[in-house]
Amino acid sequence: MIRTFLFSQFLLLLSLSTVLSAPAPPDDTHIVIETRQTALVIRVNKDKDPVIVHLGTKLSHPEEYARISSNGKRGEDYTAIYNSAYTPAGGRNLLEPAIQVTHADGNPSLDLRYVRHESKPAGDGATLTTIYLKDPQYAFEVALHYKTYPDEDVIEQWSTIKHTEKKAVTLHKYASANLYIPADTYYLTHFHGDWAREMNPREEALTEGVKVLDTKLGTRADLFQPPSFLLALDKPAQENEGDVLAGTLAWSGNYQIAFEVDPLHNLRFMAGINPYASAYSLAPGKEFTTPAFLFTYSTTGKGGASRSLHRWARKHRIPQGDGNRLTLLNNWEATYFDFNEEKITALFKDGKKLGVDLFLLDDGWFGNKYPRNNDHTSLGDWQENKTKLPHGLGYLVSEAEKTGIKFGIWLEPEMVSPKSELYEKHPDWVLKLPNREEYYFRNQLVLDLSNPKVQDFVFGVVDNVMTKNPSLAYIKWDCNAVIYNAFSATNPNPSHLYVDYVHGLYKVMERVHTKYPKLPLMLCSGGGGRVDYGSLRYFTEFWPSDNTDGLERIFIQWNYSYFFPAIATCNHITDWGKQPIKFRTDVAMMGKMGYDIVVSKLDEKELQFSQEALKTYDRLKPVIWQGDQYRLASPYEGDVASLMYVNGSKDKAVWFSYLVSNRYNAGSKGNIRLAGLDPAKTYSVQELNVYPGTKSSINNATTTYSGNYLMTVGFNPNVDARRASVVLEVTEAN
Ligand code: GLA
Repeated sequence: MIRTFLFSQFLLLLSLSTVLSAPAPPDDTHIVIETRQTALVIRVNKDKDPVIVHLGTKLSHPEEYARISSNGKRGEDYTAIYNSAYTPAGGRNLLEPAIQVTHADGNPSLDLRYVRHESKPAGDGATLTTIYLKDPQYAFEVALHYKTYPDEDVIEQWSTIKHTEKKAVTLHKYASANLYIPADTYYLTHFHGDWAREMNPREEALTEGVKVLDTKLGTRADLFQPPSFLLALDKPAQENEGDVLAGTLAWSGNYQIAFEVDPLHNLRFMAGINPYASAYSLAPGKEFTTPAFLFTYSTTGKGGASRSLHRWARKHRIPQGDGNRLTLLNNWEATYFDFNEEKITALFKDGKKLGVDLFLLDDGWFGNKYPRNNDHTSLGDWQENKTKLPHGLGYLVSEAEKTGIKFGIWLEPEMVSPKSELYEKHPDWVLKLPNREEYYFRNQLVLDLSNPKVQDFVFGVVDNVMTKNPSLAYIKWDCNAVIYNAFSATNPNPSHLYVDYVHGLYKVMERVHTKYPKLPLMLCSGGGGRVDYGSLRYFTEFWPSDNTDGLERIFIQWNYSYFFPAIATCNHITDWGKQPIKFRTDVAMMGKMGYDIVVSKLDEKELQFSQEALKTYDRLKPVIWQGDQYRLASPYEGDVASLMYVNGSKDKAVWFSYLVSNRYNAGSKGNIRLAGLDPAKTYSVQELNVYPGTKSSINNATTTYSGNYLMTVGFNPNVDARRASVVLEVTEAN
């Protein structure tokens, strides 16, 4: 939603006016970009500079935005654009720019002045506000786009850049978003990691200067650091209170998010494609569109922020966000590369016995000249290996169906092994440098997706598999390598490669999604190397980490849950870790559950437990997938981690608690307060996933509690070393 008004109108309204602190000049325009709770207000001053004067809780009287003094009134802004809505480099700017260009005539400066703005409905209840800016001296224009989703309190922002200068203009930096907030202290939570230890949070108070989050990895870009962060104002981020902005860049390649505490102690931040090695030559008449930066601003802490993002993602971004998902049995950890037709078809029966919907055949099924028996060969040669699978995939699909489950497959279509027929046939399709030795990441190389022929090939990999096997029901799309040797043999602009790669990737994903809109697709990247809302436009779910140790997972899933909803988070029960199967199952239930175990090795009780757990999951998955998530007790703060999911009508909740400490006598000593229930409703509390042969210490079907009691006094799930994971169903009593 947008409201515009002139300050002169405001003065008329303002007979009640008290003292105005440094009022905006009479002809200032205020562009108010609003969601249900939040407003981003851009003032256009007499010089036509677009500057941000407010980002936060919206005011009930929008005419009062004109009262807000620029820059939080904390001193002198020498340039008048410290708070620019899109800071141009090279002229009067003194700080970190959002955009930096060299014009066709060599002039390295940019000035951007307001021309006009408009606002229109953008479908699904969203509104798109566009602010048009222009360089007064050059035929160079930038449009700032703000798409607001009022009900979910999310703002999606990006820019488009174009010009009609005589020759190409070089874009050195081209951010998606440039925002500005005054506060006393800024607490940034960012996440770092590596393979099998994704999403470790680190919170720090920002100091004057620039703090940069970035990646230069090209593909598997989030391996060390994802493009998602939390920003708390004035105090460290709390779960249920305080102002927290949750932001994430919808881009699967190199990104840069720069936070600058400026000389006035206000926070500026810029998020977008990483300028590193990515100068972009923009031809006259062409338009460059940046990826979108997404954010929500919460006054109810991290909890409010993540629930807004979850609702937004389910409704507006992730395919079938309000739909179904398939539980699956994967063979990766059961067989690795060592399997044949017999082994696989036997696993179908195991899957059926367990009670999953689908069997997923992982890596190792392809390559003939170079059979894929380890991870050194064959990527690119996507034909069934005739020794392992003499009757091909079609046979497996129909055998699985005969057994009563669906069949899905693993692909890594962007990649190529140095030992592969594809590499031999098309060496110019591979990213590698002339006059340099090839560097390999997981013994493999990356295909050049900036080349349209390679895009066709990669699309063809998926399309061929689907055309030959129309009832194939699931694809796991992996991406295990970073971009080493960043050079394309065919791209005329070497510095376009990182950007063109991602655009090429999205073109392929878009084609796959358009042709197979209902096909469930898992986004995987050697674990969680590619978890962002750029790719999640096309994928129904993502693989957070290869680390499936139950205890580790509590932490990993906890941190992803700030940004991504349970329905999209693939959690598999495997043999990683020391926890019993009950613990691992309870943890996996907090998302999209699956298995990667040898079913035939489960003992009787383990099998019985798993079969029953799958039935329970089937009954409760609508609450977990579509409900609101409340993090109740942090694994970073005590012996117990606790989370719950509450459905929309608040008559059903599923509550998970886990022991995360090994210390003597560790456990839930007292009550944990629930959240999200209806205080006026009455609930019963029933334990689920009780292991065969054990008894719950909680079940008492006749006792009921008001929502008010459960949220004020709380309830003790009785977590201790003997009850290390506890799942409780909270149901409105009749
Ligand atoms: C990556 C994935 C795993 C598995 C292997 C197969 O590591 O994250 O789940 O698919 O590749 O090679």
